[in-house]
Amino acid sequence: MQSSSLMDKLVSLAKRRGFVFQSSEIYGGLNGCWDYGPLGVELLRNVKEQWWRAMTLREDIEGIDASILMHPRVWEASGHVENFTDPMVDCRECKARFRADQVEDSPCGSPAYKGRKASKCQAEGKFTEARQFNLMFKTFVGPVEDASAVVYLRPETAQGIYVNFLNVQSSSRQKPPFGIAQIGKAFRNEINTKNFLFRTREFEQMEMQFFVKPGSDEEWFGYWKEQRLQWFTGLGITPTKLQFHRHEPDKLAHYAKDAYDIEYEFPFGWGEIEGIHNRTDFDLSRHEQFSGKSMKYFDEQSKEKYTPFIIETSAGASRSFMAFLVDAYREEEAPTADGKMETRTVMRFHPKLAPVKAAIFPLVNRDGMPEMARSLETDLRKSLRVFYDDSGAVGRRYRRQDEVGTPFCITIDSDTLKDQTVTVRDRDTMVQERVNMDNVARYLNDKLQ
Ligand code: GAP
Repeated sequence: MQSSSLMDKLVSLAKRRGFVFQSSEIYGGLNGCWDYGPLGVELLRNVKEQWWRAMTLREDIEGIDASILMHPRVWEASGHVENFTDPMVDCRECKARFRADQVEDSPCGSPAYKGRKASKCQAEGKFTEARQFNLMFKTFVGPVEDASAVVYLRPETAQGIYVNFLNVQSSSRQKPPFGIAQIGKAFRNEINTKNFLFRTREFEQMEMQFFVKPGSDEEWFGYWKEQRLQWFTGLGITPTKLQFHRHEPDKLAHYAKDAYDIEYEFPFGWGEIEGIHNRTDFDLSRHEQFSGKSMKYFDEQSKEKYTPFIIETSAGASRSFMAFLVDAYREEEAPTADGKMETRTVMRFHPKLAPVKAAIFPLVNRDGMPEMARSLETDLRKSLRVFYDDSGAVGRRYRRQDEVGTPFCITIDSDTLKDQTVTVRDRDTMVQERVNMDNVARYLNDKLQ
């Protein structure tokens, strides 16, 4: 399938079935912002929940939830005020704005020149000189809008962890090596947003900062690199569609000693979904310098005082969501009820991520089947998100659930009335099993583990 057509199909399915909507759509949308619909919010929450569990069920990781607005000095210490910039150029003719390093990949901004590359306009001398543009969104605290009231919407969640390092360490009585995990919104005033959820202005990050003794940093860096790759494959991402990309020494961020991206092969090419960085003692040292407060750890046993090195794992929740969405999409040949073949669209989400875990169908709307189906639904709803559907042929109902990735469909039929068993149909194999009604909850919970 052509990559553009796959993306078009995904964006259309995402809207039609309630995964993702354009923000403020009735007003023409707001560029770089998206809303998660009823199924999207479930999928996103499941992604975040799996990450949170993978991190905080460990003995050596604590969670926090820091505020989005922070003291402005935080962003001077972190280097964001000085360095968090992209080079920007403007077209004098059509007034479109481009990232100077992405002109080659960008279309011209004028509708009058359809299909024209921005690089052609640049070659014709229509562009301004490149200027540095800071990506942080600014706002003001309090009623007076002057320079002393400026604060930023955080462009990453990491700084909320660094400034709380000693608070968390002392309150939880952790000793390095240990980590702090956080999930939260981040904001970047990207010059060009693109590729659906890939580059947006508002997004969520899932970041974990692991504090280690200097000298053990390289070993922990290798450990976290592998752990994070396994997290994606463990949740069903096709392993051949994942790769590491190491940052060349001259491309490393100002804080990093070593860095790898985990990249996913999207229909538009390989793109970063997570970064693993060895940030050395840069962050804690800078916060010590700018705040005047010690950020060192004192080891009671060895009587050593040191500034821990930080190994960072920084995943985009929204980008991971998009990778899970793309990876799940399949068009397959499947038999219909009368033995013919048809193409079904199926989202092969890992059961732990699937927005709806099971659908319940009465075969017909009579003979006591709806009552039995409703009773099973009430029972399952106590612990699972399920969907009741009694409209149309069962084959059609299966297809509707396949398209949103529901792993199990349960049908109440005439045999249920006689022997209290139901059919449970597996989304991927399409094989049906008869299960006693009383055992359905346990059966599903076992499968979902
Ligand atoms: N604390 C380090 C940090 O923020 P980053 O590589 O700039 O590193 C980490 O961002 C992750 O955040 C990326 O791998 C990506 O998944 C996500 N991310 C960054 N910018 C994004 C954007 N504009 N839209 C969506 N996700 C983004």
